[in-house]
Amino acid sequence: MARTWQDILHTFEHFLKAPHEIGAVLPSSRFLARRMMKAVDLKQANSIVELGAGTGAITGELLLHVSPGASVVIIDSNPEAVAILNRRLAGQKNLRIILGDARELRNILKENQIGNVDAIVSSLPYASLGEGTTRHILSAAADVLTPQGHFVAFQYTPLLRKTLEAYFEIQSSEVELRNFPPAVVYRCVAKENKKERLNLKNIA
Ligand SMILES: C[S@@+](CC[C@H](N)C(=O)[O-])C[C@H]1O[C@@H](n2cnc3c(N)ncnc32)[C@H](O)[C@@H]1O
Repeated sequence: MARTWQDILHTFEHFLKAPHEIGAVLPSSRFLARRMMKAVDLKQANSIVELGAGTGAITGELLLHVSPGASVVIIDSNPEAVAILNRRLAGQKNLRIILGDARELRNILKENQIGNVDAIVSSLPYASLGEGTTRHILSAAADVLTPQGHFVAFQYTPLLRKTLEAYFEIQSSEVELRNFPPAVVYRCVAKENKKERLNLKNIA
């Protein structure tokens, strides 16, 4: 989906009201959306979750790349963004749009009778959500991924790396300059040993 004035206005207004919640002044560019899709193996994915869909800057590209029949769940905690998504994507097959908190990922999947997922695409602004919330979400994301599943996230600063490494192995990190602001895209797999993740969580 190309960025529209409605997306730009929504993002800017959301930023003025709750900057920590959105962490951006503009929706992501198509270059960033494409780089995210290059990082995630969607051909092999039967179930995909997007966290922090906003008005769909990444979702549009995601829906172009998913295999027919794959189920997609997109989650955002902002009611206005979800209303826009519902209007735009109504009737899209195998897509569920959920107004919810990414911290509740395990419950959201359970309520929707979805087991583990093959890919999680995240645009959440971890730097502004704070360490506690970030760890809560990353821990849930690592728990619900299949062993070969990928977690792909973009960030505007390299600060997330250390926290990410508590839950995931980072397979690659690439910078996309054609976005405002430029962003780093991380591609990760969950650490195999759940105990190791839990121990790290307890130490922190
Ligand atoms: C940087 S914007 C990304 C929007 C869009 N995906 C893009 O790339 O332009 C971050 C989005 O995360 C959402 N968000 C923030 N905290 C959240 C949470 N705990 N659970 C779900 N969504 C959240 C915000 O409402 C916002 O739409």
